Amino acid sequence: MCSPAPLDYTQDGVLYTCARNILEQRLSDYRFLHSISVSQTAVVLAELYGVDEGEARIAGLVHDWDKNYSDEELIARAREFGVPVRDWEEDMAALLHAQTGAEALRREFPMFSEAIIQAVARHTSAASDMSPLDMVIYVADMIEPLRTQGNVGALRALVGKLPLEALFLKSYETTMKHLVTRHRFIHPDSLEVWNTYIHKERIGMKHTKKEHM
Ligand SMILES: [Fe+2]
Ligand SMILES: [Fe+2]
Repeated sequence: MCSPAPLDYTQDGVLYTCARNILEQRLSDYRFLHSISVSQTAVVLAELYGVDEGEARIAGLVHDWDKNYSDEELIARAREFGVPVRDWEEDMAALLHAQTGAEALRREFPMFSEAIIQAVARHTSAASDMSPLDMVIYVADMIEPLRTQGNVGALRALVGKLPLEALFLKSYETTMKHLVTRHRFIHPDSLEVWNTYIHKERIGMKHTKKEHM
């Protein structure tokens, strides 16, 4: 258990160092480096979009806390933590690492803000009411420099050019396309998230049109 006093989320702080040291034992080398990279990318995005940098640093670092568990282990952890596991989720158990990780962190780091816990929980399937920190972590997870797949370069090029919500929606679009192309299941909650943000985008477009009439 890490108990820093005073609480701080800086890179040299006791909390970051403690979480990083535990994480190094929990994850493969690649996943550990990915986590450091997501943390650094999240800080850059947070600076750009006016989000709390300390929370972005920590949430990015620990977002894959439960990533190394097998599907069976994740389902068992979900049941232990009271995370709902529906039948169709057993085909997509890997997604559960976000929610079980968040619950594990809540227990191990009770000093973490609820915003950090929520951003971890939402980094796979997202949610219909993403906070700016949630969006920063979602996007950072996709575009951190060690990621090479798909059109991640095109997404990186949009950083700072699009508002954060539009950047998140572009990232989500990339995920949805990836799932369809690879004939993977799509989580029903993901469709709801997609429809919610497309609806918001259309409302925004209508307002913009009216303003220019
Ligand atoms: Fe993840
Ligand atoms: Fe990740």
